Amino acid sequence: MEQPRSKRILLGITGGIAAYKTAELARLLAKQGIEVQAAMTGAAVQFIAPLTMQALTGRPVLVNQRDAVDQPDTGGNGMAHIGASRAADAIVIAPATANFIAKLAHGLADDLLSALCLARDCPLLVAPAMNRQMWENPATQRNIAQLNADGAIVLGPCSGAQACGEEGMGRMLEAEELARNIVKFLASSPPATPLPHPRERELEGVRILVTAGPTYEAIDAVRGITNRSSGKMGYAVAQAALELGAEVTLVSGQTALSKPQGARVADVTSAAEMFGAVKQYLADTDIFIGVAAVADYRVAQPSEQKIKKGGGNLTLELLPNPDILAYVAGLPQPPFCVGFAAESENLREQAAAKRKAKKIPLLAANLAQQAIGADEGELILFDDTGEHLLPRADKHALARALLRHIVKLYRQGKPR
Ligand code: C5P
Repeated sequence: MEQPRSKRILLGITGGIAAYKTAELARLLAKQGIEVQAAMTGAAVQFIAPLTMQALTGRPVLVNQRDAVDQPDTGGNGMAHIGASRAADAIVIAPATANFIAKLAHGLADDLLSALCLARDCPLLVAPAMNRQMWENPATQRNIAQLNADGAIVLGPCSGAQACGEEGMGRMLEAEELARNIVKFLASSPPATPLPHPRERELEGVRILVTAGPTYEAIDAVRGITNRSSGKMGYAVAQAALELGAEVTLVSGQTALSKPQGARVADVTSAAEMFGAVKQYLADTDIFIGVAAVADYRVAQPSEQKIKKGGGNLTLELLPNPDILAYVAGLPQPPFCVGFAAESENLREQAAAKRKAKKIPLLAANLAQQAIGADEGELILFDDTGEHLLPRADKHALARALLRHIVKLYRQGKPR
């Protein structure tokens, strides 16, 4: 049997004093069996010697375009910035200076490392490190917001003593903490899949709105009603749609997942907020996929203060929440609507009835006990032609199969 290959990261080092911590980071990652390819900017080599990084990673460090052209992993295509980033499961920039973050936010590619970042087709993790005033500067904050919006994962910074003698926000996270986060991220991220051939980008130009994750309905300042949805299925659906070239908007309840790269993301908490975000983006939507586990009820009068324990019973009045999917499907000119149903019993009957009640062309159903929080599952699709089983697989594979079915039905209704 073929062994799964070890994870690879491209560790980009830019010119800040925290670069010395990156040596330890490289050592910790290598200890976890992760292959590390270091790439340094011209400024970074003023802070730490490439030879140090080479000794810790066992690979020559990329500093100039020429270094990358000679990389064995690039397939010898001579396209340094393309090849070297394609070989990685993730790019991690640590430390990321204010200047480099600005370059990332604006898509500049005036040295090897920024070109690698621009040409990547893998996730980008960024560990900022800078003086507190540089961090607090609105320009940096705008750039960080842009990176978040673009799907990059920003790790830190933290607060503490700074090299310049000041105290405050801007210190790079310690190597152990960065390594822990990177390892966790690599373990949860799907294996890097090659970009589909242009022919397979069947949803190029199609706008897809996905809801995902749980909602949270406040009871008081610290308590609420939520559910065990992890958001994994919704995020996998958004990812699969992106792989097919769609323009994806993800309206997400609170989850611990990293955002799919390339999606426009609206983070929400309650069902009412989710409804508001869906209405906001609806005009730009060709396909709506409701994967979120939306609370059916909200508390009539959530308390602004924490409710104190009393001797007797406590009664909460609950009001029904709007059904977002039914609202969208009931519009005079609805997008193509797909619903999800997690049922704990009588799956087939319940799902078929739900598809009718919500007046949607496609409903994907699964058994709640097996699906919630799991990494894999099984789906039964209900449409006008009957039932279609998507056999047990991990949620990314399931999402891709579901998207193939959606494309087929969507194209039938809308010839190209
Ligand atoms: O009726 P039920 O909650 O089982 O329906 C599940 C489907 O409806 C899912 O697609 C879910 O995202 C959607 N839904 C919704 N708004 C609600 C309740 C469910 O969009 N308030």
